[in-house]
Amino acid sequence: MLVAPSILSADFGNLANEIKAICDGGCDLIHVDVMDGHFVPNMTIGPVVVNPVAKVATKPLDIHLMVEDNTFFVELFAPCKPLYISFHIESENHPHRLIQKIRDYGIKPAIVLNPHTPPEAIEYLLEDLDMVLLMSVNPGFGGQKFIPSVIEKAKKLKELINKKNPNCLIQVDGGVNDKNIHDLKEAGVDVVVAGSYVFGNDDYSKAIKSLQV
Ligand code: DX5
Ligand code: ZN
Repeated sequence: MLVAPSILSADFGNLANEIKAICDGGCDLIHVDVMDGHFVPNMTIGPVVVNPVAKVATKPLDIHLMVEDNTFFVELFAPCKPLYISFHIESENHPHRLIQKIRDYGIKPAIVLNPHTPPEAIEYLLEDLDMVLLMSVNPGFGGQKFIPSVIEKAKKLKELINKKNPNCLIQVDGGVNDKNIHDLKEAGVDVVVAGSYVFGNDDYSKAIKSLQV
């Protein structure tokens, strides 16, 4: 299991050291939550913060867009050279076109599904994707409770992925901890995002390792 700590739960007054600590602690990716105050009722950070984060980071960035205008934000964040950019299917009328645009920047495209969105919604996009992110909370805030129906959804998605594009990864985001990690693993999940669980632990390395099952 790959682990992507979400810096939403980091101490932003001490961000460079927080980034160093998760990288030294053995994380696989750095999850960056971008919120525009419209698609979700919260706002976070832009390239003014993410560019210096990318300079300090020794692990690749995984940018999760929670925005209405996906194309604008893809263009804004592409120069930060993330490994992945993910966008929500619920906010995009032309997902196929946007996937190509992300790929043209040399970035791996991923699509995010809110808790209510069925995996079949993206069946015909799977061959063009590197990853699908299943939300296990309603997007907008860290520290929320894990929605258990994501386990069944991950299993369904895994079946579709096996048929259409076995190289596509499954990522789960929200309320992930050392209690639900084994069910996620068994359901076929490849990558987990963990914010409050990692940054709420005194020992980031220990918290990260406890999820790398
Ligand atoms: C929620 C974000 C998550 C969040 C996860 O909208 O997408 O990445 O930071 O935080 P935890 O792990 O605390 O649920
Ligand atoms: Zn996220």
